[in-house]
Amino acid sequence: MSSQLWSFTVSYRFPVTFTRDVFAIDNPHLLEVVRSCENEVGAPVRAAVFVDQAVLAARPRLERDIIAWFAHHAEHGLALAASPYPVSGGEAIKDGLPIIERVARICVDLHLCRHSYLIIIGGGAVLDAVGLAASLVHRGLRHIRLPTTTLAQCDAGLGVKNAVNLFGIKNLIGSFTPPTAVINDLRFLETQDARTWRAGLAEAVKVAIIKDAEFFARLEALAPALAARDATAMAEAVQRCANLHLEHITGSGDPFERGTSRPLDYGHWLAHRLEALSQHRLQHGEAVAIGVAADSLYAASIGRLSSGDAERVVRLLQRLGFRLWDACFTLRDAQGRRQVYAGLEQFREHLGGQLTLAMPDGLGRQRDIASIDIALYEQALAQLRRCARRAVPCANGR
Ligand SMILES: NC(=O)c1ccc[n+]([C@@H]2O[C@H](COP(=O)([O-])OP(=O)(O)OC[C@H]3O[C@@H](n4cnc5c(N)ncnc54)[C@H](O)[C@@H]3O)[C@@H](O)[C@H]2O)c1
Ligand SMILES: [Zn+2]
Repeated sequence: MSSQLWSFTVSYRFPVTFTRDVFAIDNPHLLEVVRSCENEVGAPVRAAVFVDQAVLAARPRLERDIIAWFAHHAEHGLALAASPYPVSGGEAIKDGLPIIERVARICVDLHLCRHSYLIIIGGGAVLDAVGLAASLVHRGLRHIRLPTTTLAQCDAGLGVKNAVNLFGIKNLIGSFTPPTAVINDLRFLETQDARTWRAGLAEAVKVAIIKDAEFFARLEALAPALAARDATAMAEAVQRCANLHLEHITGSGDPFERGTSRPLDYGHWLAHRLEALSQHRLQHGEAVAIGVAADSLYAASIGRLSSGDAERVVRLLQRLGFRLWDACFTLRDAQGRRQVYAGLEQFREHLGGQLTLAMPDGLGRQRDIASIDIALYEQALAQLRRCARRAVPCANGR
């Protein structure tokens, strides 16, 4: 009998590029990405493109632009295997496994191989779902993400996670599969509706609270412009938020989340629960805004944020246009407990046994906690409700 330990290391690198008009004929970024990846077989590289239907509807020329861009670059050994495939956008695409089967069928029909690319254009939901399919077909086709929403460009499109929902459980089936590249085309942000434009800013507020007090102050300064759909302000917020997420993912030593600490999931135990309870009436970012506001008021009650800073969080979110109370808070289980608290149990199970929740440790810093005091949380919720009812954010629940 013998036992020996074997080990190997795999390192990942992927570029994250900010640009405008990625499919303009003279825009080099997509070509550079494909060229920088060695194609061992030497044959033309083939790609299939999946596009969020809402993006196609908002940009009627996009399909033609994509086809023209590939035709123009054919001489560089890059071939579009078929016209772009529309996929439904929003959380509906993450509803179970049908999207995996659909993408797999297309990949088989197009004879795509492990040197082929799936180029995924869409909001976080489309990136999550088609990205998961890409990670599974032939045990992983290369995928390039072109995020089209605020949230996807500053958070969801950047990381290493892909997932769909199953049995009503958010992100139950997923994988850790880094993309080949991310290209953030800021022009895509222009066609978002008001809710989607705003929703991703909740992730910016979130990451500022736990990582960067200066960025938080900058968001306060930018809030009027962001609320008024100023593209320059949005570009600044998205890029800084993206960098903070990427610094964490690449520098925290736990990109595949083997440990239980999840700093980037601040406010998310509640957000995921609200998304599910609202049957996805609330967008992810809208739920995150509520989760971050509630957890920040709780953080003040356990001495992790000053009450003044908790008030700043609530005020900033409200100035950005978020509604911080939702009817789902009134739902109760048979024991009379608010149904949102089941989110704590689900989060604990997801982490693998021990509850670990990100909390601020003063604005701009983070330190985990292992439990929530429900009585204190109830006070935070009562305060949140009062804040949400007032046109002007309230100070410390008074
Ligand atoms: N993988 C990760 O690390 C990660 C991180 C955060 C969030 N997420 C996931 O991301 C999803 C939310 O993503 P989201 O906030 O981008 O919302 P979304 O993908 O649900 O998109 C919101 C709506 O906007 C539409 N849309 C997308 N781009 C558009 C554009 N440019 N113009 C007009 N309409 C457009 C979509 O069709 C959809 O109807 C959730 O499922 C969440 O769980 C994943
Ligand atoms: Zn999130």
